[in-house]
Amino acid sequence: MQIPLSRPDITEKEIEAVCAVLRTPNLSLGPKLAEFEAAFAEYIGRKRAVAVNSGTSGLFLCMLALGIAPGDEVVTTPFTFIASATSIMMAGATPVFVDIDPASLNIDPAKIESKITEKTKAIMPVEVFGSPAGFDKICEIAQKHNLTVLEDSCEALGSELNGKKAGTFGTMSVFAFYPNKQITTGEGGMILTDDDDLADMCVSLRNQGRGKGGGWLDHERLGYNFRLSDINCALGIVQLSRIDEIKAKRKQVAKWYQEMLADDDRVAVPTEPVGCDVSWFVFVVRLAEKVTLQQRDGILEAMRGKGIQVANYFSPVHLQPFMVEKYGYKKGDFPVTESVCKSTIALPFYNNLTKDEVAIVCKALKEALDKNLLAI
Ligand SMILES: Cc1ncc(COP(=O)(O)O)c(C=O)c1O
Repeated sequence: MQIPLSRPDITEKEIEAVCAVLRTPNLSLGPKLAEFEAAFAEYIGRKRAVAVNSGTSGLFLCMLALGIAPGDEVVTTPFTFIASATSIMMAGATPVFVDIDPASLNIDPAKIESKITEKTKAIMPVEVFGSPAGFDKICEIAQKHNLTVLEDSCEALGSELNGKKAGTFGTMSVFAFYPNKQITTGEGGMILTDDDDLADMCVSLRNQGRGKGGGWLDHERLGYNFRLSDINCALGIVQLSRIDEIKAKRKQVAKWYQEMLADDDRVAVPTEPVGCDVSWFVFVVRLAEKVTLQQRDGILEAMRGKGIQVANYFSPVHLQPFMVEKYGYKKGDFPVTESVCKSTIALPFYNNLTKDEVAIVCKALKEALDKNLLAI
């Protein structure tokens, strides 16, 4: 028995759409790019969408478009995927971390203001595991201090807070389409904004700095090749058209986990925060704070030994070796993040996970808890 951590949900419709592009001469910068961008902008409810080849490229281009440069600081969370912080560093700016709220796992709005300096240019909140909890408060703080919000929505396609979609909180926001995400394009990302100038800048930057209407060999600025091919876009169009079905399937899988683990007080299961309609990205349970890292890792090993892929989500960003070397961070700098990181277990989670498979995972988890938590 092998149960992967994640698995894309590709139907015949996606396969046909990709094959159809392969029968045309337009494999890149063709009609599917414009169609995917238009459909995405409409779904999120923003004026412009700019497709790029990854979420990371998207975040980096937002930095450049917003004029974030060496000497600037961007406030973000250390409990995230590494690209949130590295995209700031790629622009030459400094990520300034703020610890997380232990309930929402998102950047703690109550701790942001003390980290704002004259150098702060933007706040980059991340909808961790798909939850936009606290984003209304974060936006209020940004407004009060006249700071731009760049929203890392890479994990949150389809989530809402009080009826407002993830991806509509920031001046710019970015989604990602790696195969473990709610929808996939193989690799890919999307920048969203209501500002035409910012969007036009990203269109130029993703395409070697070419200008509107200019020739293939005319370059107005230093640019990159961060284009998303029409093959990827065709896949994305079909996936996006299925987002309601995908969201519902994932909600059902989350519900099975919640029900089957409800009777075990050794694990805290995630639930939807008040006011949030979460489009589930991953399903991460948490162990009690007193559980040691060795015990948690023993549980991961025991489950992997049964063919069940599990993971620790995340590893603290500030304690990655290159971060420690560059900024001198040390253990204890962000205690909530560090405590949560050592107690998380991401369970297998994808659209087509069956109820029987969820039961197998829960049984294996309970057995692993029995074996590894004897001491507590
Ligand atoms: C929070 C967050 N930010 C950024 C990214 C980067 O996206 P990509 O892997 O497409 O570059 C991811 C993707 O895993 C993510 O989860």
